[in-house]
Amino acid sequence: MTTERPQGFQGYHRRHDWQEDPELTHIDRGTECGEYLRRYWHPVAMTDEVTGLPLLVKVLGEELVLFKDKSGEFGLLHKHCSHRGASLEFGIVADHGIICCYHGWHYAVDGTLIRAGSERQNGPICKKVVHGAYPVIEKDGLVFAYLGPFKSKPPFPVFDTQADSGVEKVPFSLSTPCNWLQIYENTQDPVHVVHLHSNVSGIQFGVASGLDQIIEYQDSPLGMINIQTREVGGFIWSRTVESILPNANQTGAIWEEADSEKFFQRSSVLRWVVPVDNTSTRTIGWRYLSSELDPGNQGNRSHIGKESIDFIGQTATERSHEEAQRHPGDYEAQVSQGPIAMHDRENLASSDAGVARLRRLLRRRVTELQEGHEPPRQAEREGEIVSTYTQDTVFLASFSSDQQRAFGQTVANTVIRSGDRSPDERVLMVKQACETFARRS
Ligand code: FES
Ligand SMILES: [Fe+2]
Repeated sequence: MTTERPQGFQGYHRRHDWQEDPELTHIDRGTECGEYLRRYWHPVAMTDEVTGLPLLVKVLGEELVLFKDKSGEFGLLHKHCSHRGASLEFGIVADHGIICCYHGWHYAVDGTLIRAGSERQNGPICKKVVHGAYPVIEKDGLVFAYLGPFKSKPPFPVFDTQADSGVEKVPFSLSTPCNWLQIYENTQDPVHVVHLHSNVSGIQFGVASGLDQIIEYQDSPLGMINIQTREVGGFIWSRTVESILPNANQTGAIWEEADSEKFFQRSSVLRWVVPVDNTSTRTIGWRYLSSELDPGNQGNRSHIGKESIDFIGQTATERSHEEAQRHPGDYEAQVSQGPIAMHDRENLASSDAGVARLRRLLRRRVTELQEGHEPPRQAEREGEIVSTYTQDTVFLASFSSDQQRAFGQTVANTVIRSGDRSPDERVLMVKQACETFARRS
């Protein structure tokens, strides 16, 4: 059979008027996606960055000043003082709130004006002015903020992997000079692991992750998962990788080799892909460390922190440009898509089903909000522990590819069904589902 291909040397005739996809990529206040993202809590800094001095941060296109007052409360205020605009970055952190350096206007962490410098105490200006401020919660080394309308503030969620006492949570933050979406959708693009992280650059993560796999996608209570199933040396390995809408994700053990049985082993990273502005992004989260997740001891705690992580290809500075060209990683692939990847220029193929599905999910939520429907909340109560659906299961068996597909679905369905159970019960349910599947096959 011959395949007819379009004629070559068409450089001159290709379109050049590619359009951005603003509905999903523009994040300023008032934009569709910007409003959607403003309905959730996001990490905005690592606690260690907040010293005795105010910290200038940019989040969702807004310039803000983050500080911890002397009573221990965090404040996140608009940068420019409500008096005549001096930056609160040069303010004095007070017992309660912050005092602008220029004329001494003193703001509480909620932006109320405590005292307007030389103006009369409780004078009319204090009744007129309230400075822009956002609620902040500090949790395990990360500072989270909510930048949406106060009346829509959702309960602060705690995801179940955060509550796992068997892992050490190490905060990290990475800056990437491109739009948030091209970083976020990478998690639902498992096909790139075989190419970028194995065939092209040599093995950058586990050897097993470079093997061909059966991939399926499924909605989950918090967003979506992909189900990756493959045969590795007499074991069947089924991994579920999760996007927690709008911008968090989790994945399994980074160097998983699937060489021993395990059921419902949890995540090695929980991270939020937080837009700084339309063309720069901070990925902030925790690396989860434990001997169970990393039996080969390949992780390195001392490499995890500000602009640093203990796996390859995530930053501009870790390698020379030549080395990055010879062995590119996620950073090179994502940043080189451009400041904002042009969806109009792409040719999505069958292997992009996860990316397409994630964009559809996001677009639906964005549109629903525009129509007046608030997006789903991650937690119903403040600090509620929220079940997630990321895991690795490795089962001693040999299955045909059809059976592997069915096995992966069985594991994923059990993982989703077990969401209301305890972690130990979920392990048991997945183990029993694997054994039942094997008996029936
Ligand atoms: S500009 Fe801040 S107090 Fe005057
Ligand atoms: Fe990757």
